[in-house]
Amino acid sequence: MGWLLCYLVTLLVSHILSLCTCQDKIVPGQYIGGNHTLVSSLGTFSLGFFNPNENSTKYFLGMRFNKFPNTALVWVANRESPLDSPDFFMLSSDGNLVVLDQTRKLVWSTNASVSASAMNHTTGLLEDTGNLVLRFEEVTLWESFDPCDTMLPGIKISLNKKTGQQRRLTSWAALDDPQPGKFTFGIDPKVPVQAFIWKETTPYYRSSVYIGKDTAHFQNPGGTAFFLSYNFDVDDVYLAYSVSDSSVKLRVWLDPTGQIKQQLWQNSSKTWLELGNSRPVDNCDFYAHCGPNSACRRGEPLSSPCKCLTGFSAKFPNQWAVGNWSSGCVREKVLTCGNGIKSYFSKLERVKLPDHFVLLNNRSMSECESECQQNCSCTAYNYVDATDGSNIGTCLAWFGELLDLEENKTIFANDIYIRVHGSELDSSENIKLEWGKRIQIIEGIAQGMLYIHKYSRLKIIHRDLKASNVLLDEKMKPRISDFGMAKIFEKNQTEANTNSGYMSPEYAKYGHFFEKSDVFSFGVLLLEIISGKRNAAFYRFEHPLTLAGWAWKLWKEGRGMKVIDAYVRKECPFDEALRCMHVAFLCVQEDPIDRPTMATVIHMLGHETTSFPPPKEPAFLAHSNSSVVGSSPSSSTFSNNALTISIPEGR
Ligand SMILES: *[C@@H]1O[C@H](CO)[C@@H](O)[C@H](O)[C@H]1NC(C)=O
Ligand SMILES: *[C@@H]1O[C@H](CO)[C@@H](O)[C@H](O)[C@H]1NC(C)=O
Ligand SMILES: *[C@@H]1O[C@H](CO)[C@@H](O)[C@H](O)[C@H]1NC(C)=O
Ligand SMILES: *[C@@H]1O[C@H](CO)[C@@H](O)[C@H](O)[C@H]1NC(C)=O
Ligand SMILES: *[C@@H]1O[C@H](CO)[C@@H](O)[C@H](O)[C@H]1NC(C)=O
Ligand SMILES: *[C@@H]1O[C@H](CO)[C@@H](O)[C@H](O)[C@H]1NC(C)=O
Ligand SMILES: *[C@@H]1O[C@H](CO)[C@@H](O)[C@H](O)[C@H]1NC(C)=O
Ligand SMILES: *[C@@H]1O[C@H](CO)[C@@H](O)[C@H](O)[C@H]1NC(C)=O
Ligand SMILES: *[C@@H]1O[C@H](CO)[C@@H](O)[C@H](O)[C@H]1NC(C)=O
Repeated sequence: MGWLLCYLVTLLVSHILSLCTCQDKIVPGQYIGGNHTLVSSLGTFSLGFFNPNENSTKYFLGMRFNKFPNTALVWVANRESPLDSPDFFMLSSDGNLVVLDQTRKLVWSTNASVSASAMNHTTGLLEDTGNLVLRFEEVTLWESFDPCDTMLPGIKISLNKKTGQQRRLTSWAALDDPQPGKFTFGIDPKVPVQAFIWKETTPYYRSSVYIGKDTAHFQNPGGTAFFLSYNFDVDDVYLAYSVSDSSVKLRVWLDPTGQIKQQLWQNSSKTWLELGNSRPVDNCDFYAHCGPNSACRRGEPLSSPCKCLTGFSAKFPNQWAVGNWSSGCVREKVLTCGNGIKSYFSKLERVKLPDHFVLLNNRSMSECESECQQNCSCTAYNYVDATDGSNIGTCLAWFGELLDLEENKTIFANDIYIRVHGSELDSSENIKLEWGKRIQIIEGIAQGMLYIHKYSRLKIIHRDLKASNVLLDEKMKPRISDFGMAKIFEKNQTEANTNSGYMSPEYAKYGHFFEKSDVFSFGVLLLEIISGKRNAAFYRFEHPLTLAGWAWKLWKEGRGMKVIDAYVRKECPFDEALRCMHVAFLCVQEDPIDRPTMATVIHMLGHETTSFPPPKEPAFLAHSNSSVVGSSPSSSTFSNNALTISIPEGR
């Protein structure tokens, strides 16, 4: 009993120990050692010193299914302190359950704070659920259900929203080594409505988003069932598994490679049957596999699983094409927002919602929508009905990039509304405008251009007037969007814009730009509004003529009416339409000197007079491969990089 003396010094054990002959309970004065075990009352679990697997020579105080010998340990006490021999498990004189090594050194303790009066009167009980509890009378002082690597029915993965206290699973380092590994599984402390597997501190896998409380039922081939339930409405939020009846033996564990696995014991084969819903398994399960602003599609091993969201394209197309999706996607057009401009949202159904959202409680659907609509930093939203059937539910809002979105989900799926663009003149919602609105828009743009050319404190040349830069508010009042926008685009896109035919010949050829260059762009825009045809479409279909060339041809043939959009041709006053067209042709003339000023344009648009000069043939009648210079014109003449102000209204 030399070891006892040694132990007395540290823990003041005062009993003479005897080997435990009890079934499921350990009391002061007894110990477990060697191949002796505690066995739970119905014989489901046993607790003793085991090797983690056949290849290991180390001993751990562990728990396993008693009837399935040599299968994995579901709980280990001294994970971090392996023993060379199966030594002592007992109650110490301070009332805690402890593990001592061969030299009687303390290697593990339940560390509960036990009152002095309880110290000689605690017991350790192995319950048939697999929970080892330290008790004093009816009070639980400590329990092993604070899990390591295995969830059994009844174990909760949890997070206390008030105290921040968490219960997570921690993987083993290896199958033969229960020391804490790299992976942990737990509830997201930032928004406690989803779970994560972290690899060290990096997100590795993210679960679906669980709003409120619910239970998902799973059926295995044998017909037995288990459930995953969650309640994220309470202060102590949790995820837990349960089984349909106690004959179903379920274990859910985080394996050393970071995969969470659900396994059911099969009586027939005497093995653990792994169910098909382990995670991560698919590319889409790995956190942010497709980078920002993209959707991942499951089961796409051959083709690309990643797809940019509507309105986005690959940030680095070359990398994307070879399967490097990490940089994700960026907006094709700068998002126009604010100033009363209405934004459009595209609805994506049945997705795993992306990460990094904010929860706004107690909102109606329309409040949720309008809060996102009104805040330009809001990139997406989603509304989830309250479970009590009221129309006050939960609003989820995103304020940045959309990360880790998976499409076409069959379970735990949600819809999401993603902000796509403002109400630009060229957006599809605005194609079918009546004639009166078109005139209103034309006049609004002309006034805006006049204002910036003549009356603004800084005499400004816009340099990038085009349909997509004209924003319409809810009353269809045009607002010419900010300068400098094109500068944000990547170089190749900027060139695409200059190719789209709003560019005056002097700018295209020499990089010269002045007010009359804006007038040219205005003329092209005017033709687009009248004809309802997009200048760029003439390129797309390899039409030999430009929009101006096509309109000019019809005009010269006396068929000017054919230029007018068929949608408004019947309703529009012909003289007004033809006058607009005449002004447009004057604006797109080759020589800037021949083009009117914006002041003259406004005068002409508003006066019924036939004394307009006849227009000369427009610049760029037809496409020629060399008509547009390859390199971007230098911006030395009129550098306006600093002018990222919004344009005041011209009235
Ligand atoms: C336990 O160990 C003893 C001696 O080390 C051995 O005789 C006995 O067979 C073992 N019992 C079991 C169930 O393995
Ligand atoms: C034990 O080691 C052998 C040989 O390396 C290996 O084949 C076997 O799979 C290992 N067993 C376990 C449970 O890891
Ligand atoms: C018990 O406390 C000791 C000392 O504070 C600590 O090293 C050990 O990890 C604790 N054990 C458990 C199981 O919490
Ligand atoms: C525990 O019991 C022993 C002997 O039975 C006694 O000497 C000791 O004072 C008790 N400890 C406490 C904290 O009550
Ligand atoms: C498996 O077998 C045990 C007895 O060997 C029995 O109690 C249990 O109900 C069986 N479980 C199932 C799911 O059939
Ligand atoms: C993937 O693309 C990014 C961005 O271009 C680059 O930094 C990274 O090195 C690429 N990764 C691989 C594996 O090529
Ligand atoms: C939501 O409204 C309910 C009922 O009005 C209230 O009890 C609850 O505290 C509110 N929750 C939040 C987060 O404001
Ligand atoms: C938009 O929402 C963000 C995040 O909630 C907030 O910080 C910001 O103040 C809001 N902006 C406006 C204009 O309401
Ligand atoms: C979505 O999933 C369903 C069912 O798995 C499948 O039939 C359908 O083709 C999928 N749709 C897409 C767009 O992948």
